[in-house]
Amino acid sequence: MNDPVLTYGREDGDATGAWTKHMRTMERTGVRTMARQLPGLLRLSWSLAWEADRTGLIALVAVRVLSGLLEAAGLLAVAGALTGLLAEGPTPQRLHAALPALVLVVGAGTTRTGLSLVENLLRSRFGPRIDRVCTVRLLQLATRTSVMAFDDPRFVDDLEAAERGAAGGRQLVDNAMDVFTAAVRMIAAGSVLGVLHPVLVPLLVLSIVPDGWATARSARLRYTSWLSRIRQVRRQYMLAHHMSERECAAEIRSFGLGAFLLDEYTRLARDLEDEQLRVGRGQARYRLIGESVAGLALGATYATLVLLLDHGVMPLAAAGTAVLAIRTGRGALETALSSLTEAYENFLYFAEYRSWTEEAAQRIPAPRSTKAPTDPDVIRVENATYTYPHTDTVALRGVSVELRRGQVVAFVGMNGSGKSTLAKILAGLYVPDSGTVRWDEVDLAGVDPDSVRDRVGLIPQSYTRWPMSARMNIAVGRVDRLAADGPDSVVPAAVATGADEVVDRLPHGYDTSLARQYNSGHDLSGGQWQRIACARAVYRDAPFLIADEPSAALDARAEQALFDLIGELGRDRIVLLITHRLASVRGADRIYVLDEGVVVEEGTHLDLMARLGIYYDLFTIQARQFVDAD
Ligand SMILES: Nc1ncnc2c1ncn2[C@@H]1O[C@H](COP(=O)(O)OP(=O)(O)OP(=O)(O)O)[C@@H](O)[C@H]1O
Ligand SMILES: [Mg+2]
Repeated sequence: MNDPVLTYGREDGDATGAWTKHMRTMERTGVRTMARQLPGLLRLSWSLAWEADRTGLIALVAVRVLSGLLEAAGLLAVAGALTGLLAEGPTPQRLHAALPALVLVVGAGTTRTGLSLVENLLRSRFGPRIDRVCTVRLLQLATRTSVMAFDDPRFVDDLEAAERGAAGGRQLVDNAMDVFTAAVRMIAAGSVLGVLHPVLVPLLVLSIVPDGWATARSARLRYTSWLSRIRQVRRQYMLAHHMSERECAAEIRSFGLGAFLLDEYTRLARDLEDEQLRVGRGQARYRLIGESVAGLALGATYATLVLLLDHGVMPLAAAGTAVLAIRTGRGALETALSSLTEAYENFLYFAEYRSWTEEAAQRIPAPRSTKAPTDPDVIRVENATYTYPHTDTVALRGVSVELRRGQVVAFVGMNGSGKSTLAKILAGLYVPDSGTVRWDEVDLAGVDPDSVRDRVGLIPQSYTRWPMSARMNIAVGRVDRLAADGPDSVVPAAVATGADEVVDRLPHGYDTSLARQYNSGHDLSGGQWQRIACARAVYRDAPFLIADEPSAALDARAEQALFDLIGELGRDRIVLLITHRLASVRGADRIYVLDEGVVVEEGTHLDLMARLGIYYDLFTIQARQFVDAD
């Protein structure tokens, strides 16, 4: 079976949107465009290198200029040596005449070798620094952008391309350096050739152009192919990841999924092989054309040299030097062109990085000077509407709720009714499309979002199992507090949530690693993890606690203890509880029932039972399960 729609589902409008963007990028990849973009490209790589390591950059440029000058001096010295050696007279005399020039040739060569060692050393410190600058910037943005951006599939898609593009930064700088070196060498060789005979210079350039054209076309072919394969590569990566992940190992075996996944992987891999073969063929074709034309031009250059020699316009020593200069110049020009085209390709990759970082920067909420109230008495949502990016389903429509300090408020309702979405709006993670969220009388629209989140302790419906120690898993929501209050400060939160019983059984207590993916890590059961997640929110000790399905995996005793704790915490803070265990919301001070993004009922347990509405139905269904069991 290899119907992608059947396996992966139909791709929506967003994917097409992202695609169009890539297609547009492809249109911009012509050779002429490349020439136009060159100054920008060089500027970008220079500023990157400058930011990463300015001392190294200056040293590298100095080394390369010096090496180029030595090359020119070496070539001229060759001319001197040849003139001495080919002059009339006895051999010892000729040797004597050529000696100073020969010493210069050897001296220049040795020094250049030494300089290339220094250059390699400088490069090895340079590259990793640029990698760091680019990656840190990417991750900084990835952790700072609004969480809403991550609901936008196009943004996530582009993030993946940007991650690949980040490596382009280092290569781009490397390429720019190569172009620079080659330019210095070319100027050196070109000047020597120009001194020997001016006609040789344009002929040399002509012999290189076709090669350059071929390399540019090949690079474009490879890049456009890469763009068109992104989706497939991602699927392949996703399949490989699932096949080798611990989380999926049991399901793969019990469902006998291995062969199906492997077949699918192989099919994708074969498709990619075919595509790579197509690219390889195209590149070979360009290369053949380029090299044939370049070969003819090089033939013409040497023919001119012979003619000049034959007509006595150029002495033999000069002709010998010219051959060397042509070789050097051609080598340098070739390096320059291939580095330029490589730079161009890396620039295209790096453009993905740049455009994502620019977009991500715009999605970082602007810092505002107004802070959220430190200890709000009342939080009100009025008429909030929210639709997830690029979807048609309205998750919330005109919702109004009120949460007060000293109360436990509960949200109940069926799956997909909008409870978690509303919780995220209350936590300052999502901004509603319309409507307001007020803390006391302060509208969150004008408040620094970090100050809102700082006052919220969240137990999310799907929490993270951090690959860190048990202690850190509890303290991760207030790392600053751990540093200030010491390692034992996590104990009360652990005791309150029953996480201490979990930790007591671990071989190194709070210092046990819970990174099961590494050798020494220990894993916990679902409920044990959930206790840790609850302890994390309690340790955060925020004035507003949001518990979204905090007890789904807990045993009955732990669940009861948690709801008691929530009731206790609700005495002096604002507590929001989202749960499907309706027996435990009976004690809530206010219950909101959501249905398809609308608050359909609200009141206390008794009010809602008296209404005989959705709450009554849901509650009696659950209650009956216990009664029937008697
Ligand atoms: N990240 C998302 N992107 C797009 N749509 C989403 C996203 N998360 C939720 N939705 C949609 O928004 C609606 C409300 O989802 P929400 O998670 O708020 O429901 P819920 O009441 O918390 O459900 P549950 O009881 O299953 O946790 C659903 O229709 C859901 O499909
Ligand atoms: Mg939910």
